[in-house]
Amino acid sequence: MAGDEIEIYAICETREIDPGRAKAFDLSRITPEGEARPFRIVVVRTGARDFVGYVNVCPHKGAWLNIGGGEFFNKEGTRLRCGRHGALFDIESGACMEGPCEGEHLEPIALAVVGADVCLCGVTLVEEEARPFPYDDFDDTMEIMISPD
Ligand code: FES
Repeated sequence: MAGDEIEIYAICETREIDPGRAKAFDLSRITPEGEARPFRIVVVRTGARDFVGYVNVCPHKGAWLNIGGGEFFNKEGTRLRCGRHGALFDIESGACMEGPCEGEHLEPIALAVVGADVCLCGVTLVEEEARPFPYDDFDDTMEIMISPD
């Protein structure tokens, strides 16, 4: 029956994120009410084939975690860190361990590794094609044909 199917979107290849690193994606999702809404996420690679993902919104004041310098981690690389007021989050659980929203959580997203791809599950995106944020993927496949005289 239609309606029971889970939407899965490939958002990047596993090789695009090194272990211990994170990458943000600026997506749009369709809400249950059928409206398009910005859907900013961060994908963290915690191991060879282990990834965790969160909505890229700090539970304190709603900033992007990488606001400011673009960094997701504290200096030691042991916690996710919000660039606005410095809240520190457990990487695996998304729980705020220290800072102004201690005890609150980042909103998790469901990820699955399918083949060479990291896939987002259970949400309906406006576009199938995920774009890294900031947009650093200008189309370099476009060819300009110059005809010889
Ligand atoms: S908005 Fe993230 S710590 Fe304040």
